[in-house]
Amino acid sequence: MAACATEKKVNGALKRSVSSVFPCLFILCVTLSALHSLPALGQSTSPVFACNVESNRSLGTLGFCDTSMGIPERVADLVGRLSLEEKIGLLGNTAGAVSRLGIPKYEWWSEALHGVSYVGPGTRFSSVVPGATSFPQVITTAASFNSSLFEAIGKVVSTEARAMYNVGLAGLTYWSPNVNIFRDPRWGRGQETPGEDPVLSSKYASGYVRGLQRSEDGDGDKLKVAACCKHYTAYDLDNWKGIDRFHFNAVVTKQDLDDTYQPPFKSCVIDGNVASVMCSYNQVNGKPTCADPDLLSGVIRGEWKLNGYIVSDCDSVDVLYNTQHYTKTPEEAAADTILAGLNLDCGSFLGQHTEAAVKGGLLNESAIDQAVSYNLATLMRLGFFDGNPQKHHYGKLGPKDVCTPEHQELAREAARQGIVLLKNKAGALPLSAAAIQSLAVIGPNANVTKTMIGNYEGTPCKYTTPLQGLSAWTSTNYQPGCVNVACATAQVDDAKKAAAAANATVLIVGADQSIEAESRDRVDLLLPGQQQLLVTEVAKASKGPLILVIMSGGGFDISFAKDDDTVSSILWVGYPGEAGGAAIADVIFGSYNPSGRLPMTWYPESFADNVPMTNMNMRPDPSTGYPGRTYRFYTGQTVYSFGDGLSYSETHHNLVRAPPAQVLIPLEEGHLCLSSNCSSLDAVEENCRGLAFNIHIRIKNIGTMDGRETVFLFSSPPSVHNSPRKHLLGFKKISVAANSEAVVKFRVDACKDLSVVDENGNRKIALGAHQLHVGKLKHSLSIRV
Ligand SMILES: *[C@@H]1O[C@H](CO)[C@@H](O)[C@H](O)[C@H]1NC(C)=O
Ligand SMILES: *[C@@H]1O[C@H](CO)[C@@H](O)[C@H](O)[C@H]1NC(C)=O
Ligand SMILES: *[C@@H]1O[C@H](CO)[C@@H](O)[C@H](O)[C@H]1NC(C)=O
Ligand SMILES: *[C@@H]1O[C@H](CO)[C@@H](O)[C@H](O)[C@H]1NC(C)=O
Ligand SMILES: *[C@@H]1O[C@H](CO)[C@@H](O)[C@H](O)[C@H]1NC(C)=O
Repeated sequence: MAACATEKKVNGALKRSVSSVFPCLFILCVTLSALHSLPALGQSTSPVFACNVESNRSLGTLGFCDTSMGIPERVADLVGRLSLEEKIGLLGNTAGAVSRLGIPKYEWWSEALHGVSYVGPGTRFSSVVPGATSFPQVITTAASFNSSLFEAIGKVVSTEARAMYNVGLAGLTYWSPNVNIFRDPRWGRGQETPGEDPVLSSKYASGYVRGLQRSEDGDGDKLKVAACCKHYTAYDLDNWKGIDRFHFNAVVTKQDLDDTYQPPFKSCVIDGNVASVMCSYNQVNGKPTCADPDLLSGVIRGEWKLNGYIVSDCDSVDVLYNTQHYTKTPEEAAADTILAGLNLDCGSFLGQHTEAAVKGGLLNESAIDQAVSYNLATLMRLGFFDGNPQKHHYGKLGPKDVCTPEHQELAREAARQGIVLLKNKAGALPLSAAAIQSLAVIGPNANVTKTMIGNYEGTPCKYTTPLQGLSAWTSTNYQPGCVNVACATAQVDDAKKAAAAANATVLIVGADQSIEAESRDRVDLLLPGQQQLLVTEVAKASKGPLILVIMSGGGFDISFAKDDDTVSSILWVGYPGEAGGAAIADVIFGSYNPSGRLPMTWYPESFADNVPMTNMNMRPDPSTGYPGRTYRFYTGQTVYSFGDGLSYSETHHNLVRAPPAQVLIPLEEGHLCLSSNCSSLDAVEENCRGLAFNIHIRIKNIGTMDGRETVFLFSSPPSVHNSPRKHLLGFKKISVAANSEAVVKFRVDACKDLSVVDENGNRKIALGAHQLHVGKLKHSLSIRV
């Protein structure tokens, strides 16, 4: 409790925030589960919904309960019946009841980052549903580079969420996924994201959101559950050397905003049709994002045409007033955010100060009608106003549909698909179960449970630890080597003895939430404490192959192990979810041929020593020695690179169909670029319409194991407008059986794929040579006028 109380005093404004430090979160869970055991609170088994005409016939005459009317008409009918006070009650995450109209209290805040989570008051577990399927942390799933997997996981999560809603244990509105770019390896929340690349993040965002939201009754406007892409925007610093997200002003260029930070959100809204976007705590160029009319009304509503609601991060309206002192009065903070386009406050600030803002003339009631209408329309699309949900499409879902064998198998499959093989000396992996009579299993993460599910977790169906997973294949000898990941003192002797006596050694090290977490960024990139000593000593002593497994969200500088001949193989498993241990064993013993690829750059320690986390620039600056960020711009050495990952089978690539070597763009007579040297053209329809090319690549598996291949199509554009050195145009994941081949097809669209963002944030077709690469294949495509 002491930790919680201190946190409250220091950050008075943040007492309701999700940002609780680890011990605080733990106490919260304990408190909640204590509440569950109270009969009055714990046994509710019916869902919360409005328009319960069975128990109150008169509600049937109200327009907003009439399911034959359109949603805008029903919303207008309802808003027209509400008093100002009642409307203001609908602006906070705990929306007040309007009992006279048969509307119960609704809790908006639920989370489902990689499974239904207990973070957020809208969802809890009980004896009725004790756990839900806990998929790998997002960074691991992203490493699969399998778009259909992103959607498949979302679909299972929304099925379990609906099942829990039906028994009164969960909400309908989920504040997931987190699609911020993993810009800096030290970020404690990088684990929650799909990595550093805007194309991968965009595909993840739209795929996962479709899986969560897509209505299964065929009505495109209805929602299975409502997702939310967060945290808009340029948010990827939590607490680094005393600089925290509540005070941080992210200084971002127009160019970086448009070609790095915004794309996942844009894709989430436009391609994923997400029902919500959450604005962040930080400021962007001097303005809190939740009070920026250009970012909210201008971009999200105006340009992207969000069909849904904009919500604040928890207490971020309070933060911009009390912590950032952005407005002089709380009423101004209320008026500024609502007028900027904010519709829902995670917190109670708008509930407390909006009425005075209206009375003081800072805000008209019509602005509140507007905000409340977006919120209510979302609930209508979810069926909240359609009467008893047990009589509607998802009504039959219940506890039996949570943690089914199929769902748990998908969790294991997702972990297998995400595991990345980074090093493999000839013949080391896979291990042969027949030959390995004894296996030493060592390391602080070798027998962990909760570590495997990362943060924004729920209670899983069950765990399979790495030790348990490996023990299913052969007999094991377990030595932790360190008492925890901090590894203040490694117990090297027993670990060495075990390694010397076994046929092979699996050494599982890395991080957990005590090293990288929300509100906790790292300051270095080295393995914590004496983990490195443990690895080198055990590797020296090991009689058989030494398999090093890194379990972490962010990357580490493990050059020492990469270069050490006694370390036979290296696997990165991210945080692999409830079935992570089984999946690790599947890969190590070769029942699954690994195909995951790194979704982020692994930098050397010197990066952390020289680059301030607060510098948001993506592009290098030779005048200061700033190296830039991510594979698209970074100019320095890497330990491992974006896209790295091996498999047990070797493949050959062949170009079977390529675009022309030269493309001419016809220009109207008198166009400026016909008389002067232009480096680029506006990427407007007339210039590039219909300009698209096919690239077909044949992949041949010349190995003896069936495998999967992740095929990347990169382009290096001409170096105009400070363009990226290289960027991903697309990726495909395919299965290729041993000794057979498959063809992968990409379509390159000139407007979209051969354009770059210029210094003012405008899309331009870069004139000159574009190098397209797939693996070692290269093809040059020159664009001229
Ligand atoms: C409120 O509405 C009036 C009348 O439409 C308008 O003149 C005024 O500018 C509005 N005030 C604000 C703060 O939006
Ligand atoms: C491994 O972890 C599991 C789950 O926490 C526990 O039941 C088991 O006793 C542990 N095994 C060893 C050898 O410590
Ligand atoms: C495995 O270890 C045992 C005990 O040291 C040894 O007898 C056996 O030959 C080893 N097997 C292999 C394949 O090395
Ligand atoms: C255009 O650029 C080319 C190559 O840089 C140069 O040779 C040529 O003189 C330039 N033409 C004009 C009109 O500036
Ligand atoms: C991608 O994921 C889906 C869903 O798990 C799976 O059915 C498919 O086989 C995966 N594709 C590859 C190539 O592994």
